[in-house]
Amino acid sequence: MSQHLFLSLVIVAISPLPGGFQHSDVSPTQENPADLDCGLPEPSSRIVGGSDVQPGSWPWQVSLHQGGGHICGGSLIAPSWVLSAAHCFIRNGTLEPAAEWSVFLGVHSHDGPLDNIQVHAVAAILVPDNYSRVELGSDLALLRLASPARLGPGVRPVCLPRASHHFAHGKTCRATGWGDVQEADPLPLPWVLQEVELRLLGEAACQCLYSRPGPFNLTFQLLPGMLCAGYPEGRKDTCQGDSGGPLVCEDGGRWFQVGITSFGFGCGRRNRPGVFTAVAPFEAWIQEQVMGSEPGPAFLSQAQKSQAGPQEPRENCTIALPECGKAPRPGTWPWEAQVMVPGSRPCHGALVSESWVLAPASCFLDPPLDLEAWRVFLPSRPGPERVAHFVAHENASWDDASGLVLLQLSAPVNLSAAPRAVCLPHPDHYFLPGSRCRLARWGRGEPAPAPGAQLEAELLSGWWCHCLYGRRGASVPPPGDPPHALCPTYREEEEAGRCWNGSSWSLLCREEGTWFLAGIRDFPSGCLRPRAFSPLQTHGPWISHVTQGAYLEDQLIWDWGPEGDETETQTCPPHTEHGACGLRPKAIAAGVLWPWLAEVHVTGGRVCTGILVAPGWVLAATHCILRLGATTVPYIEVYLGRSEASPLPQGHQVSRLVISIRLPRHLGLGPPLALLELSSRIEPSPSALPVCLHPGGVPPRDSCWVLGWKNSQDRVPVAATVSILTPRLCRCLYQGILPPGTFCVLYAEGQEDRCEVTSAPPLLCQTEGGHWVLMGMAVRGSRELFTAIGPEEAWISQTVGEAHFLNPGGSPYWPPGGSDLCPPDLAGDSGSPKATPLFLLLLAVLIQG
Ligand code: ARG
Repeated sequence: MSQHLFLSLVIVAISPLPGGFQHSDVSPTQENPADLDCGLPEPSSRIVGGSDVQPGSWPWQVSLHQGGGHICGGSLIAPSWVLSAAHCFIRNGTLEPAAEWSVFLGVHSHDGPLDNIQVHAVAAILVPDNYSRVELGSDLALLRLASPARLGPGVRPVCLPRASHHFAHGKTCRATGWGDVQEADPLPLPWVLQEVELRLLGEAACQCLYSRPGPFNLTFQLLPGMLCAGYPEGRKDTCQGDSGGPLVCEDGGRWFQVGITSFGFGCGRRNRPGVFTAVAPFEAWIQEQVMGSEPGPAFLSQAQKSQAGPQEPRENCTIALPECGKAPRPGTWPWEAQVMVPGSRPCHGALVSESWVLAPASCFLDPPLDLEAWRVFLPSRPGPERVAHFVAHENASWDDASGLVLLQLSAPVNLSAAPRAVCLPHPDHYFLPGSRCRLARWGRGEPAPAPGAQLEAELLSGWWCHCLYGRRGASVPPPGDPPHALCPTYREEEEAGRCWNGSSWSLLCREEGTWFLAGIRDFPSGCLRPRAFSPLQTHGPWISHVTQGAYLEDQLIWDWGPEGDETETQTCPPHTEHGACGLRPKAIAAGVLWPWLAEVHVTGGRVCTGILVAPGWVLAATHCILRLGATTVPYIEVYLGRSEASPLPQGHQVSRLVISIRLPRHLGLGPPLALLELSSRIEPSPSALPVCLHPGGVPPRDSCWVLGWKNSQDRVPVAATVSILTPRLCRCLYQGILPPGTFCVLYAEGQEDRCEVTSAPPLLCQTEGGHWVLMGMAVRGSRELFTAIGPEEAWISQTVGEAHFLNPGGSPYWPPGGSDLCPPDLAGDSGSPKATPLFLLLLAVLIQG
């Protein structure tokens, strides 16, 4: 609400003249001789999509003030009575004191002459007993003025319809007010009263529109005593601050108040017409309240009895489809605008309304001088358009999307199949993970290597996007909050071999065949396609404020799925110096596996487990990769994001050849770990992401798993819960057979047989910070013994460069000293000890230390 619209008007010293009312010359109604003349504007004589009114055209319009500002509208229905909406006066279920309110009559604009304005105190506010909430109806109120209004030019009452009065649907009526001109966009100075033409919608047509899920993910039930007015396509409506104001229709040369502005869902949105309190059904209630007051309101009978209810033609249900964002063929964008500024390369922007083009500020480095010479080329137009205005985004904020400009064309263009405006998202728009998106030219970049611009991208979930590319430590915005970034993923094949250097891009995402300008990337991202885009939705309010008519379109897909239910704020594990590692969301969405788990296919059909430790490196157990006695270097392929049971689309699979195998020198003949160098890097994504590496020690209270396959044929990933034993216990259990740098684990009950061992499964733990860290790889033939990663830190870091070693924490693996005494009965001699009750007891004691 534009609460302070009338701040400086504060009770102008015009004392209302009591008894100033005089009967007008025009004779009142035949049937109600006591009634005053009504519904006649001066002969001379927002609302969304409206226009300034002529002074004196709506002499019954009043402005209701509280605390020095305009709160609601109202209408004068008799010298001492104003009709308005109940919800204007009720806060926390109680009626506000009448003394806090004042009624302004005869106001045209705040800047206008004050001589005709009357300010009246309110003696009483009357609200129907059954009013509780706007959506439940009876949203009307009567204000009795402390002193009657002086009628005259600019101050006259409106006529009221009798209960039997029927206004045909389709009739064009007017709503008036000083409310917002768009959602969250107050009426600008000088606050001239706005009027808008609205069509009465029949109950069936309105209910039909509201029965379709729409903004705020809801449907709504129209009740008796309510009426709708507006258009299925929206764009004209009342808005915040108009409440209580009148909706008037002409009948027999007089204006009747048919409705009271009550509520809506957003303002001017498609298929969401404004809801008004119908006045006619409340004739009896109004009559009862004003009883005895002379003169009372003028309830007039219907002048034109032409269309009674039943004979009225049935209204059909016309659902409006979006007017923006339709592209006959993806890739040929009907909103693509090329701005030509003399002396520089063409700049790509997007048409957002009949008259406005959005473009990056980076195209126009110098202050725009000679707009005269600028030209804008739009699809299917006979010639270029000229530019009338240049509006830059004022306060550059934290993101790179703030560098936007809007160019106003010198004449609006006709929107049809082409050119057509792109749809812009509202701030609460939630682009679903998996949304289909494409890139489009943006700014001044190099021409795209066709047909590259046609390729599809798929949107990552907010969690992945934020945790892979977001700012460190910031929490993940829940669905419905504007995201910090939007991340498309591309198919591997489409990635390869294309250089997009130097290009800025916009991200278009599709919902039900309608394209939204979802994000922009205004700086080049090397030879790769851009991974993270600045969302445009935070800029919607600025764009619609400047353009007054850009196509902000509602979200078209409301099925938010499980992610939509997660309102709790989530955080990401902090990045290491090389970026994100070991990420896996808590709530596992379908399709998210173990993004670092690789299948390593070795010549001869053998498949080993591998772990991605850096974008171009996989770690595996040497014994699985290299067979003793083999004379040739094996041919090895690595697959990530792949599993037989995986619901991931094929596009998420990534494969690489191994071009070299690196073994640590210092370990002599039988080094347990091998690093495999891949033929090219793999861009981090939810299907291929490096794990974090643990430099040493076992942080207490970590949860650990052996991660492997149920069997090495179908390779469905399984994880078995284990505890890492203390070195002393381990040595006691495996005396004699424990190679240096090895540790051992104990499986939780019934978990031992989950993973097969020939592929050498890895051991992972999740740290308190949420990272997944690699602790070790299984020793040949064992499910309990693991080669520790920590001691190999120097070798791995030197070889790989970008390995994600976390900061050291916990105790080292092999603490010096300590008792060498083993608990009785545990000086084992087998490689696979059975856990005795005593052993488990000891374990419980020892592990907690
Ligand atoms: N409740 C609003 C007010 O207090 C009026 C909203 C009308 N909204 C609409 N979309 N028609 O001012």
